[in-house]
Formats: sequence, C-alpha cells, structure tokens
Amino acid sequence: MTPTSTPDDTDDTDVADDSHDEGSTPARIETLLEELTLEEKLSLVRGAYDPAGNATGYVPPVERLDIPSLSLVDGPMGIRAVPSTAFPASISLAASWDTDLAAEFGETIAAEARAADQDALLAPGFNIVRVPQCGRAFEYYSEDPYLTSRLAVAAVEGIQAGGVMATAKHYLANNQEADRHHVSAEVSERALREIYLPAFEAAVRETEVSSVMASYNRINGTYATAHRWLLTEVLREEWGFEGFVVSDWWATNECAGPAEAGLDLDMPGMPLYEWQEHGSALFDAIDALPDAPWMPKRELAEVVTRPWQPPNPNPNVLKDSFFGEPLREAIDEGRLEESLLEEKIRRLLREMARFGLFDGDQPAGELDTPAHHDLARRIAERGTVLLRNENETLPLAGDERIALIGPHADEPKVGGGGSSEVDPTRATSPFDGLSDRLDAGGSITLAHGLPPVGDASMHDSLLPEIPTPWVEEPRIEEAMAAARDADVAVVVVRDLATEGDDRDLALPGAQDELIAAVSAVAERTVVVLNTAGAVEMPWFESVDAVLETWYPGQEDGHALASVLFGDADPSGRLPVTVGARAADYPASSEAQYPGIGGRAEYSEGVFVGYRHFDEAEIEPLFPFGHGLSYTEFAYRDLSVSLEETGDSSDGDEPTALATVEVTVENVGERPGREVVQVYLRDVESSVPRPPKELAAFEALSLEAGESRTLSLSLTERAFAFFDEDDGEWVVEDGAFEVLVGRSSRDVRERASLEY
Ligand code: BGC
Repeated sequence: MTPTSTPDDTDDTDVADDSHDEGSTPARIETLLEELTLEEKLSLVRGAYDPAGNATGYVPPVERLDIPSLSLVDGPMGIRAVPSTAFPASISLAASWDTDLAAEFGETIAAEARAADQDALLAPGFNIVRVPQCGRAFEYYSEDPYLTSRLAVAAVEGIQAGGVMATAKHYLANNQEADRHHVSAEVSERALREIYLPAFEAAVRETEVSSVMASYNRINGTYATAHRWLLTEVLREEWGFEGFVVSDWWATNECAGPAEAGLDLDMPGMPLYEWQEHGSALFDAIDALPDAPWMPKRELAEVVTRPWQPPNPNPNVLKDSFFGEPLREAIDEGRLEESLLEEKIRRLLREMARFGLFDGDQPAGELDTPAHHDLARRIAERGTVLLRNENETLPLAGDERIALIGPHADEPKVGGGGSSEVDPTRATSPFDGLSDRLDAGGSITLAHGLPPVGDASMHDSLLPEIPTPWVEEPRIEEAMAAARDADVAVVVVRDLATEGDDRDLALPGAQDELIAAVSAVAERTVVVLNTAGAVEMPWFESVDAVLETWYPGQEDGHALASVLFGDADPSGRLPVTVGARAADYPASSEAQYPGIGGRAEYSEGVFVGYRHFDEAEIEPLFPFGHGLSYTEFAYRDLSVSLEETGDSSDGDEPTALATVEVTVENVGERPGREVVQVYLRDVESSVPRPPKELAAFEALSLEAGESRTLSLSLTERAFAFFDEDDGEWVVEDGAFEVLVGRSSRDVRERASLEY
C-alpha cells in the first residue's frame, strides 16, 4: 500500500479540515489508511445494521482506530424514522421561488437531523420533472434547470451550514419511477449538459456538496452506479467533486464496474428483509430463521417474498453487498487494486473530518420545535399557487358559510409515499385549520362526498395487500346539498403519488365528477389541489378559483386557512407547466415515456417543460412561472447592460455577464409578493434552441403602492448552449432578447442585447 503524499505542515492529530484544496488531505487520514486492516477497510465502503435503529444508512465505526460511525438519514421533507417536523413537499418549496427560504429550510432540517443524531441527510433530490407522471415529482423541484440549480444550491448550503452532509440525488436522469431499476435514459449529451446535469454541477461547484447518490436507472445503457463518465469524468475530473458517491439503496448490481467507475459507498449493505424497518411480520420471521443447509435463508427469502416484490425488483434487494466479499475476492485475486478501496475511504473520512465527526464537534440540533412548525407553515403558504381566481372569489372574508367538501377534507396531506415519508407529532387538516381561523358569523359544513381515495405508499407493495372489507358508496348528493346551502364550496382533492410508481394525471376516484357536480350547484367553487405535480383539470372552467397546495406537510390546514382568508398572499409560482392533456407534454410517445424494451428515448432533447410548449406552440392550461396574487403588479423601466468581462463557464462561482434592471410596483390594494422572472431568447442560433429560457429570478414583497427597482445578474451560462461537436459551452455572437415578466407566458417588458 502506498499512501498519497502528505503535506508537511499538517497537524498529525487533527483530522478536521474545512478545505478541499488539493494536497490538504489531513495526515491523520493517511495514517489511518496505513493502519486499517483489509477487513476494516471493507467495512467502510458498505452499509451495516444501525444498532440505534434510526439511520437509513449506516457505516459502522472502527473503534480500534477511533473512527466514528456515520449515520445517513432520509430525506427531503423531514427526518425519517423518528417523529419529526413534516415539511411541505420539495415541489412546494420550489414553487416559492425563494432561495432564502430554501436555505432556511436546509438549516432547519439539518438541525432536526442532528437532534436525531444523524450526520448526513439523503437529500435534497433535484431530478428534473421531465414527465408530469413521475411518482416522485413532489420530491423534486422543477422542470427547469436554472430554477432547480438555484434552489439546490441554497438548500445544500443551508443543510451543510447546519453541520450536516447533504446528498445530491438521484444522479442521474432518474426522471420516472416506472421501471426505475432498469430503464435506460437514452439521452444526448447536450440534453444532459443543459437540462439534467446543471443542478448537480451547481451543487458541486458552488457548495462543495458532500455526497452524490448514484441512481437506480441506466443512462445510455450503463447503470448510474457503474457510469464512469458521470461518476469520475464529469463529477470529479471536470467539476472537482471531492466528496463521496453513495449508491441508491440496492442500486449496485456488480462489484468491479461500480468500484472502478467511482462509486464509493454501497448501501444499505444488507438484504432488504434485514434492513427494512416497517415491522413486516414476514421479514421478521425470515430474519429469525436459521440458515438451513438445504436452503439458505437468503434463497428462502427470495422464494417466499417473490409474490410481493415490485415487478422489477432491484437485482441486489435480497443479496449481500457487492462491496463485501466480492470486493475482497477481487482484491485478493489482484483484479482490483487495494489503493482503489483506499481512495474511497479517503473520500469518506475526509467528509467525516470536514463535518467534525472525529472530534464530536457537531451541532446538537433541535427537533420538532414550534419554530420548525412555523417554518413548515411559511413554506406551505409561500408555495401555494393561486392558479385561477375569477371575480376575486378569493380571499374569503371569513364570515361565509363554507361547505368544505372532499373525501379527505378533514385529514392533512402530509406527504407522498416512499422513502420521504415523515411521521409528524402533529398535523392540521383543512377542516381544523379553517375552523380555527373562521370569523364570527362564519360556519363550516363538512361533506366527504366520496369514499376515501387513501394514501399510496411504496412500502405497501412489499407486503401482501389486504382487501378492503367494504366499499363506501359515493355520497355526491350529500356534497351537492351542502354546497347549495353555502356561500362558497371549498373542494379539497388529492392524488396518490408514491416513490416506486408513476401516477395518473387524472385525479383518482370520482373526484373530477365530485368537483363538476359541486360547481354546478354552488354559488362559488374553490378547488384545493393536494397533488404531487400537474394534474388534468377537466372541470377548470366551471370553478371560480383553484389553489395548488401540493403536499403541504403537517401545517396543511393552517397554511390553507391563511391563504384562503388572505392573511398570506398566495405567492407561489408554478415550477412546472400544467398542460391541458397528457399528449401536450414533451415526452408523450410510448418510446419517450415510459419507454419500450427498457429504453426511454429522450428524443425531445432540450425541449423539456415550457421549452417544448413554447417551441410546439401549445397553449398550456397554466404556464411555467404562473401564479396569481391578491394584488396587482406593474413592471416598468427595463434596462439591460452587458458587463465588460464575463465569467469563464468553467469557473467555480458564476459571475455576472449582464445586468437587468427593472422596476416593479404593487399597484393593488393589498401587500403582496411578486416573483420577477427573466427569460432569455437567442434570436438567431446555429442550433435549435428553446424560444426562451429562464435566466434569473427574484422574489420580493411589496406593500400596496410600493415600488422597487431590482437588479438581476445573468451569467454567461444563461446565454450559452452546449456544443456537442466541440464538447463545450458556446455563446454565439448576435442578438438576444431579454423578456421580463410574471410567467413564461406573461411577459411584461422586453429589451435587446447584442452579444
Ligand atoms: C430512494 C432514495 C432513498 C433510499 C433510502 C431509495 O428507495 O430512491 O431516495 O434515499 O431509498 O431510503
């Protein structure tokens, strides 16, 4: 074994080091690497059982050498495994277009992780919402790479400032849950560079994110966990990533390929039935079995659980880690170098040192506090998008007779299914939230109208399905009667999204019929959508107002009440386009989505989301960036200037290339919050480019009558496209149009710029 060179001036006893500069690898880590046995080394590159039972992933300590353990926990919306604050869905945070809020969220969730004694958060997830059907759309941010990047950077900075390692996931092109363990995203380098990679790139270059999670799927035929170009050439050699790459759970399906490609940590390191924490009697029973010579329990587990496995179970789900015995054998037989194993450990220990694990120098954190609940409410409010508001139906005055309708109107919609599930200690339903806020004279009548549509959870698919003993009859009549007697009907509806499955764009059950029936008799109808992303709204012209509240988390009812009654301006803007029908979206052929024969052709290239709707001239139901306010904003005095020196796109911190100034005035009668959006259009280009692309944005709160002049910076990257032939970012000389407005389709001011 040959340790890499050790800088002379490094203190031998101190492993804590904040910097990632070349050559600053702490000497102590090198000493540790010399002292570790092969057995111990192998224990540091794969997960093990967490004796405390809380971690989602656990790297055991090497007590002999005072190497501490590392605990990694899900996830993006709250801390898994211990009762904790259930924050709104990531897409709700994204809908706030508020990077300060994302940073505050990051610090807060880090505090919760620390209080639960966890060192790394398996979040945020920032895959691009390529298809609205994606079952994890609620766990991601947006269809736009720039919006996603800015939120990703802010959230990662917040998490890491809170003393917790962040994990950028799922790298890469894990844009659908259908067949996620096998599907190959067949995607051009240009689309990867312009759409799917930027948020990861920004997290690495701008925040030194600690770790990156390699996804389940394949990219152009190669599994993400074994993708050398992605894990080593792009991530490390181009972007300078110095953290560690962790596999998604059971995503590794061989030893040498991933080991050589750049995967560092194989998770969870044990078969599903040993790891799973959901108290399945079946798995507990298998775990308790002795290994019989005629059928080892792993094989037995495979046979017994087959009927309940998802259609394409990940190959490793019932096997031991490929970074255990197989890696040892490969090293023993000389097929892999031990130095490769050491490099992985070096990366891991370096991050552990950077975050104070060796010295016990980590913040104590706080869990489930009133301040955290308050933040959960503020995010839910800021993320709420007022899609439609005819005749100023909203805000409500507070003294109305309200018919609150919906199969789950008296239950909070805490989150979606899967690894992001959180168990909060309290949660407020729309019924409770509205009842608490109602003024004297107001009343609420609750009518479910339909039997429950329920909640979806990936975990259910691992267990036998228990048939429902009876099915409740729809009671749409009852809901209609309540609506007739009320001043306003508020209909709360939900979809059923879970990791592991994609979702239908139509609302489940007879919820569309319920809305149509209620709106036919109600004086005014307000629809509240609790959905993972865009849904079809066949009834939308017959209702007066529509609020998209996503999955609002534990503060559901409180946040809904503040927006409905106008205590808060619904300041969310759509981070995804809402199309009128499935066929309008970019990936609408079977070959594109869900794919044929295990290949999803990303033939739409860079024309994802609004880039497609603009190019194909399709009118969306609600465009990207859309969101009404209870007040009105006017835009004026746009000016644009080009800086003398632009950045080199390869630099770590993007610097300004152009500055856009614009004045925004609140010309309404209430305070409100506007999200100013700047789009760029390359007037003439040698390659097909989207008609416009988001280049900058800023949210600001304005009192009635107040105006402010904003100055927004555009980076060189905002002007560039990725030239596949030359393998570089290119800005072509010529005219660019700068479009400033309230959404991608509501442009208020335009200016030209010569590059
Ligand atoms: C998910 C990851 C998660 C991991 C651990 C996987 O199913 O894709 O996002 O972090 O499980 O729970």
